[in-house]
Amino acid sequence: MNTTPPIHWNLRLARMDDVPALEELILLSVRALQSQHYSPAQMEAALGPVFGVDRQLIADGTYFVVEDAGRIVGCGGWSMRKAVFGGDRARTGADELIDPSSVPARIRAFFVHPDFARRGIGRAILSACESAIIAAKFSNAELVATLAGEPLYAAFAYEVVERYEVPMSGGLKLPVVRMKKRLLP
Ligand SMILES: CC(C)(COP(=O)(O)OP(=O)(O)OC[C@H]1O[C@@H](n2cnc3c(N)ncnc32)[C@H](O)[C@@H]1OP(=O)(O)O)[C@@H](O)C(=O)NCCC(=O)NCCS
Repeated sequence: MNTTPPIHWNLRLARMDDVPALEELILLSVRALQSQHYSPAQMEAALGPVFGVDRQLIADGTYFVVEDAGRIVGCGGWSMRKAVFGGDRARTGADELIDPSSVPARIRAFFVHPDFARRGIGRAILSACESAIIAAKFSNAELVATLAGEPLYAAFAYEVVERYEVPMSGGLKLPVVRMKKRLLP
């Protein structure tokens, strides 16, 4: 007998008043779901500069949340702007727009609550992003994945472009993977 509880979640665009809940979700998601890949020191150094809310995506209407009974349990989005990852705390001024005809859209900032991992929330948000990216006339998408995120994007046929390390405070480094996918022929 299948004992998994039924899924009632709902996907919608994020609003500015979701930010406190998103910040809380990001902490929980990173500390639980990245612990197989990164040390506590790496995760704490990355929270904020690398893993954080980017309000520009919310303002652009390109950031999604998934709610379960009114509680946000997943988030993720895409961007028509230059930044490839990171929260908005260190940014001064607007993030520059990119040209859909020559530059890939960015897939950005996916975080799922650990109690809801592997139940298809990441998949649902990524599908919504790809549809929106195609509607915005981008042919390609790219992203910088954590090692925890890589299997989700690989499952959607994103290809590894390069593996590198993001330099962080205290001389720490975060291994990440740049990935890309052609969305339109
Ligand atoms: C990456 C993340 C968003 C995935 O979210 P999720 O809702 O658990 O993913 P889904 O359930 O939709 O998984 C879809 C597919 O991705 C792959 N996948 C996802 N997580 C995986 C894992 N831990 N191990 C192996 N494959 C995985 C599988 O193919 C999965 O399909 P399946 O469950 O039918 O086998 C989630 O693990 C997370 O929040 N991680 C911590 C934060 C983070 O590092 N985010 C990535 C930023 S780039």
